[in-house]
Amino acid sequence: MARATTQFVCQSCGSRTGKWAGRCDNCGEWNTIAEEAARAPGIAAAAPRLGGRRGRGRLIELSDLQSGTQTVTRLATGIAEFDRVVGGGIVPGSALLLGGDPGIGKSTLLLQVAAMVASAKRRVTYISGEESPDQVRLRAQRLGVETAAVELGAATSVADILTTLETGPVPPSLVIIDSIQTMWDDMVESAPGTVAQVRASSQSLIRFAKERDTAVVLVGHVTKDGQIAGPRVVEHMVDAVLYFEGDRGHRFRILRGVKNRFGPTDEIGVFEMTGAGLGQVENPSALFIGGRDEGAPGAAVFAGIEGTRPILVEIQALVAPSSLGTPRRAVVGADASRLAMIIAVLEARCGVSMAGQDVYLNIAGGLRIFEPAADLAVAAALLSSLTGAALPMGAIHFGEISLSGAVRPVAQPGARLKEAKKLGFSAAIIPVADQSNGDRPAGLDITTIEDLAALVGRIAAAGSQENDRT
Ligand code: TYD
Ligand code: MG
Repeated sequence: MARATTQFVCQSCGSRTGKWAGRCDNCGEWNTIAEEAARAPGIAAAAPRLGGRRGRGRLIELSDLQSGTQTVTRLATGIAEFDRVVGGGIVPGSALLLGGDPGIGKSTLLLQVAAMVASAKRRVTYISGEESPDQVRLRAQRLGVETAAVELGAATSVADILTTLETGPVPPSLVIIDSIQTMWDDMVESAPGTVAQVRASSQSLIRFAKERDTAVVLVGHVTKDGQIAGPRVVEHMVDAVLYFEGDRGHRFRILRGVKNRFGPTDEIGVFEMTGAGLGQVENPSALFIGGRDEGAPGAAVFAGIEGTRPILVEIQALVAPSSLGTPRRAVVGADASRLAMIIAVLEARCGVSMAGQDVYLNIAGGLRIFEPAADLAVAAALLSSLTGAALPMGAIHFGEISLSGAVRPVAQPGARLKEAKKLGFSAAIIPVADQSNGDRPAGLDITTIEDLAALVGRIAAAGSQENDRT
């Protein structure tokens, strides 16, 4: 018989220990060990033990790799920006975790997804543990989907939810659980939201998903440091993890896949929050470079690649004399250590000093950029702000900067250039050794840059011309 004792569980990684400790031995985090009631004799422990190891379990059915495989029909939602991120539709029987800051639009997105799947004559159940049915109905009205045949329930007990889902002529094709932190499983004595509860509830729901071939989407809250609250183990338990991100001050929302057993993880979906729900943004480039000021120094357009799509985005820099002993380096939407590296290369290889200057870097529209290919555009924006010389409005940049100051080629130059051409750009500043010779679109004035010093020279020259004119 399993004894009901207490145990100590790390709230960060979910590992268990027999005694409390200030620091988790497993993940090294401090102050994350909390006392929790051990699992009451439940699903696993309830099975009668027949003595020795052998003869204790039931026989499982073994098969070869080939038999029983059918081509899976994915649940396409018809929302192209969503379908692409999940890999062409949700896989039946899979579990998906959607994380995001409160108020970013997770419930809105999933209600729209639920309505679309229901309109394809599938059984869809939406369980809200946070809002009353009336609140969800109001949102449905606002989205114009109130007539969709979505089954709506307000519940937090996993046992109740599973019993409800089991009834009905067919198991649902899609179940949405909003949110996993509000769910509780009566096998576990801890409060909802704790590691033990989140893990046990997810486990029960995921088991149901696999058994009934129902796709389950779990909504997960995000903590202050940007991780899905609760144990990381939930991320390991599900088949796909998506993040819904964006800046509350902007209309744009980005759906980003960070894990996907059945699809790509580098795709993003771009949405726009409107008065009537989330709209798809089919041409994100136009959006991220829209509303630029002509002649303003410190802005450079970067031609990036997100997943399979090229996206143009404006990179803004402000370099201003600092009144602090240690100047500020503030970055929104990009990697701060990458910025530090570019500044160091400018100082060491090109003699451009930013000591005594505050540096601010911002990616327009709330997008986040991880590609090293953005280095050249970042450097151009910095130099433009430092010298006060605006970069030409019609030019895009891409190229990775190495520590030696060389500008290195990046992946998919052709796709980047084509996107620039499509959006009416007339010039491109790119690395020398790039392989795009074959597919350079006609009509783009291409300047190749060998090293960062060449870029510094160009921008300084443009600056002095401007000064001559004025
Ligand atoms: P919500 O989906 O409730 O966010 P989450 O579930 O991630 O917490 O979205 C909340 C925000 O979205 C709220 O500030 C209102 C706004 N919103 C719109 O702007 N338009 C709409 O059509 C809807 C439904 C919400
Ligand atoms: Mg919500």
